[in-house]
Formats: sequence, C-alpha cells, structure tokens
Amino acid sequence: MASLSFTHVKFKNPVADFARTRPKTGLACSNRVGFRVFASETQKEPDLSVTVNGLHMPNPFVIGSGPPGTNYTVMKRAFDEGWGAVIAKTVSLDAAKVINVTPRYARLRAGANGSTKGQIIGWQNIELISDRPLETMLKEFKQLKEEYPDRILIASIMEEYNKAAWEELIDRVEQTGVDAFEINFSCPHGMPERKMGAAVGQDCALLEEVCGWINAKATIPVWAKMTPNITDITEPARISLRSGCEGVAAINTIMSVMGINLDSLRPEPCVEGYSTPGGYSSKAVHPIALAKVMNIAKMMKAEFGDKDYSLSGIGGVETGGDAAEFILLGANSVQVCTGVMMHGYGLVKKLCDELKDFMRKHNFSSIEEGFTSILYYSHRFGKEAARGDQAEKGH
Ligand SMILES: Cc1cc2nc3c(=O)[nH]c(=O)nc-3n(C[C@H](O)[C@H](O)[C@H](O)COP(=O)(O)O)c2cc1C
Repeated sequence: MASLSFTHVKFKNPVADFARTRPKTGLACSNRVGFRVFASETQKEPDLSVTVNGLHMPNPFVIGSGPPGTNYTVMKRAFDEGWGAVIAKTVSLDAAKVINVTPRYARLRAGANGSTKGQIIGWQNIELISDRPLETMLKEFKQLKEEYPDRILIASIMEEYNKAAWEELIDRVEQTGVDAFEINFSCPHGMPERKMGAAVGQDCALLEEVCGWINAKATIPVWAKMTPNITDITEPARISLRSGCEGVAAINTIMSVMGINLDSLRPEPCVEGYSTPGGYSSKAVHPIALAKVMNIAKMMKAEFGDKDYSLSGIGGVETGGDAAEFILLGANSVQVCTGVMMHGYGLVKKLCDELKDFMRKHNFSSIEEGFTSILYYSHRFGKEAARGDQAEKGH
C-alpha cells in the first residue's frame, strides 16, 4: 500500500501540514518537528493553546487512549465539548484476534475493603485494545478528519513483532488523515504472547528495533507511550527518542490486582471463575505518574534539550490543578482517560476553567510561562536532593 504523502490528502488539514510534509528519517534525531507554545501578548484571559510537534491544540487537554475514544460518536462528542485533541482507542491489523471479556473493570473506593460507597480513587481494567474491525475504525478516523479538519486526531496503534505488519498498519492509518501516532508500548495485559504492548516497552533492545521500523515508515509525528511497570522509565523513553520518535507519553496503567473478594475468594474482576492482573488508573496513580513524568522530563532536558521533543503527562487527572502539576514538571500536553469515563466529556470545561484560575493566580498569561517555572522547579528538585545527599554524607 502506498504511503501517505501530502498530495494524497483529499481534504486539507492546516494544522498538520507542517508535520506531514516532513519525511521521517528512521534513526536520525533531527530537529524536524518542533514544539512551540505561542503566547498572545494582548490577551487578558490566560491562553491555554499549545502547539505540540507542529500540531495546534486549543488547550493541552487530550483524550487518552481507551473507552473515551472507542468510536466515531464518542470522539465527535469529545471535539464538540472542546478537548484539545483526541487519541483513539488502540487499533491493530486483525481485530478478530482481540477477545474482550466482561466484567473487565474493578474499582477501589475510599472506603473500607469491599465497600460499594465512597469516592472512586482507583480503577483496574483488563480491557484489551479495540476489538472493532480496523476497516471500521479507519472509516471513522477519515470521517472525523473530514468533519473536523482543524482538530487534532491521534491514532494509537499496536502490532505484533513483525516489520511488515507495522508498516502495513502505519500506511493504512496514515491514509485516513490522522495527525500523529501514539504507539502503545505499554498496555500491561496487551497480549504479551504476541510480543505486543508492554512486552515491547519493557525490553529496550526490542523497543529500539520496533521504533526504528515505525519511524522509518511514518511520515507524521510519533509519540511512544511508556509503561510504568519498569525499574527506570527513562531508559525506554531515551531509546524511543533516539530511535526517531518526536514525543513520549507517560504513563499507561500500573500492573495491579484490585483485590480478592472475601465472599467468593476470587480475585477481582473475575470472569467465569478466572482472573488476571490488570492495569491500575485514576486518582490513586497520579503521584506515581508525576514522579515518572518528572524523571522523563529531567532526562529529556539533560540529553535532548536542544530538540523540540514533546512529553504528554497521563495519570489520574480530574482537575485543572492535576494538569498544572504535569505541566510544571515538563509536560506539553495532559491526557485524561478514566476521568472522562467517570465524569463525562464535559469535564474539559472544568479542567480549562481550573487551569485558567491557576494561571491567573500566578500571573501566567500563557502555558509558556508555566514552562519557565517548570525549569525552576525541576532545578530545585535536583538541588534539594543533592543538598540532602551531602547532609547524609556529613558534608
Ligand atoms: C478501561 C481502560 C482502557 C484503556 N485502554 C487503553 C488502550 O487501548 N490503549 C492505551 O494506550 N491505553 C489504554 N488505557 C490507558 C489510559 O490511556 C491511561 O494511560 C491510563 O489509564 C492512566 O490515565 P488515567 O488515570 O487518566 O486513566 C486504558 C485505560 C483504561 C482505564
């Protein structure tokens, strides 16, 4: 199948032109795709707009891959409600190989063990990637881009350890006009027997090879989505950027066993008497996600500071303040998945209002000013840690 070039695009997507016209060059880490945040000097209202890897978003809030991006209807809803970008549910070439079970979610509430009352603070899923036919998903991506040419649609993709399969998937998805790829190297239960998901993200040699294939083929920006289920998350992040990705997204879900039902004595969620560890998300993972994003941001600043690579923060975002924390640590965009499942697509309005309140409080006229302070805070983290080390050593 022919790969997408600018002339193949039947409709015009002005926001993605910059990215799409630049051919990717495999392992080369050129400065070809930029991250810029434009501040409007005359605007009194804080400016939430960001331009990430050449893609302009009205605000930094992105629907994270999962149920909120499962089909045309819900993705359209996300655009209509004002989300800055949408990342669709992960797709692969052969959806028939994906068997999703029910029930596949379990929730942890801020109450006693087994309580059905109280606020949901943790969410476990054993959901696989999209089980809808690829052809259907591709038609819907195309329709969305035709109807919303100036909005950012990102395809999340995952394939087996097979170069030709990755190339075919990239080719077919690019032809729909999507603006960028997010590569799911991180689903903890993502069919590891087929070397998919975290099975790649946890193995740096495999990751380097697969990133090389992907970046040699893709002509639009590529974000590598990281698993937190690894000792040092900066290692796969570094490999992904060195292998040609323009951005890193973190975190996917944390491997978890939600609990054991003390009546049935079975782990939850339980399907016909069987269970398996799943992926943990929501408020409870937010502090862990902040630490992972901070580590990646520091590594990116130290080793790729001269490049305009991007970082997307994910994990337990439900308020504008949660998002501000990711931005202060170095994220250029913020993804929300479980928060949308719990509070609906209208959540974006609250997130924007709260982020603006935060910016007004600190006199930030644009997200760009937030970035200035990130550097300050990251620096302080480093300095204070160093001072602590010295104190321990008796200096
Ligand atoms: C039910 C469910 C399904 C998910 N499916 C995907 C998926 O298909 N691809 C993917 O990259 N991440 C998937 N995720 C992970 C989320 O995108 C996100 O990385 C994670 O849940 C942490 O963010 P959150 O706390 O905002 O949900 C899924 C999460 C949930 C809860």
